[in-house]
Amino acid sequence: MTVKAFRSAILDFVADPFFVPEPESVRYFSDGLLVIENGKVKELGAYEQLKEKYAGIAIAHFPDHFILPGFIDLHIHFPQTEMMAAYGEQLLQWLEKFTFPVERKFRDKAYCDQIAPIFIDQLLRNGTTTALVLAAVFPQSVEALFEESDRRKMRIIAGKVMMDRNAPNFLRDTAQSSYEDSKALIEKWHKKGRSLYAVTPRFAPTSTPEQLANAGRLLKEFPDTYLHTHLSENINEVAWVKELFPDRQSYVDVYDHFGLVGARSIFAHCVQLTEAEFDRLAAAKSTIAFCPTSNTFLGSGLFNLERATSSNIKVGLATDVGGGTSFSMFQTAGEAYKVAQLRQQKLSPFQAMFLATLGGARALSLEDQLGNFDAGKEADFIVINPRSTPILSLRNQSEQPTTLEDLSDRLFSLIIMGDDRAIQATYILGELAYEK
Ligand code: GUN
Ligand code: ZN
Repeated sequence: MTVKAFRSAILDFVADPFFVPEPESVRYFSDGLLVIENGKVKELGAYEQLKEKYAGIAIAHFPDHFILPGFIDLHIHFPQTEMMAAYGEQLLQWLEKFTFPVERKFRDKAYCDQIAPIFIDQLLRNGTTTALVLAAVFPQSVEALFEESDRRKMRIIAGKVMMDRNAPNFLRDTAQSSYEDSKALIEKWHKKGRSLYAVTPRFAPTSTPEQLANAGRLLKEFPDTYLHTHLSENINEVAWVKELFPDRQSYVDVYDHFGLVGARSIFAHCVQLTEAEFDRLAAAKSTIAFCPTSNTFLGSGLFNLERATSSNIKVGLATDVGGGTSFSMFQTAGEAYKVAQLRQQKLSPFQAMFLATLGGARALSLEDQLGNFDAGKEADFIVINPRSTPILSLRNQSEQPTTLEDLSDRLFSLIIMGDDRAIQATYILGELAYEK
């Protein structure tokens, strides 16, 4: 048995700060000790209180840093790693002009193998330890991703994109082949190590009704997999869905009709949802992945966070690289704050960090295993340097915060000004996986 301990300021969440006052939802030790045994959290507490008990154990000490649970990115595209910052188009033209040609490269397994470690390295250097990932339409892109994430012992949830119409021929599968390929990938990868599978129709416009029905069939056959797709991102997309599925009442109703709206369904964007659609997602206990940098970059709109959280809809934060503009969950949280501001809403630093950690774990129904430092949880965590740039050093001159108010202020500086440079180290199951 290996026991080790990490001493620093330590922050996590024990309840939802959208509903529970901060003193009861935020857990903070200005000088804390996180004890890990065999990759799982053994104990968390104040250093002064635990130091005798663990006197014989090697302690890694990070004074002037923070330890947080690893970030959870709730929606990101592996094959779009190389294509951030494609100029000047909104969603549907952006897909045609930039995205589909790049995704075509992932037909080649050697190319997938080349990009997978770059993608995983980017996650880790940004402090992201868990992600819900779309691969390409080619099963080999899923293989490459899971091979690499499994090698790093990361909890990655991913799936093969299903897409059998309204896409170039070179990117199309068929209703039947997408069913068979997804099934084979589920049988091979779902619950292998820490890998989990998400059935992943790209979005309604690129699937025939037969393919969406097959996605529903997969969910019935493998009820502990996830459903992961895009929903109601852009007004032209919504209008197109109406044309393609004239018998359905709404975009959500298209997915609902095929049995795709449930408690393990994650829908990215949801910028253009109607009231009735929000209500349906709430009733179904589905999750929304809020993708603020992508929604502003592609001009999709300002997600109504308050509408979602006030209806108790599970929400997580997502980069949506390459429509999104950064792998950093700090940058993503900062953009989420600005979107809230533009809607006259508020997103507190604690709420934002909750969405990036325990909120993301809940959104994935993984809160028993991930998201905070409760005993028994998987010890994925990050060490953050609040003075990682000259301007952050100037901003954060004062001592380690001892009150929630000061802590909130420090977190906010990181959310607005921080990025991968603030991530000093990333640990997976208690083992160092990235160090600056
Ligand atoms: N909708 C369908 N495919 C995509 C994609 O690749 N990115 C984004 N942002 N939206 C989509
Ligand atoms: Zn996306």
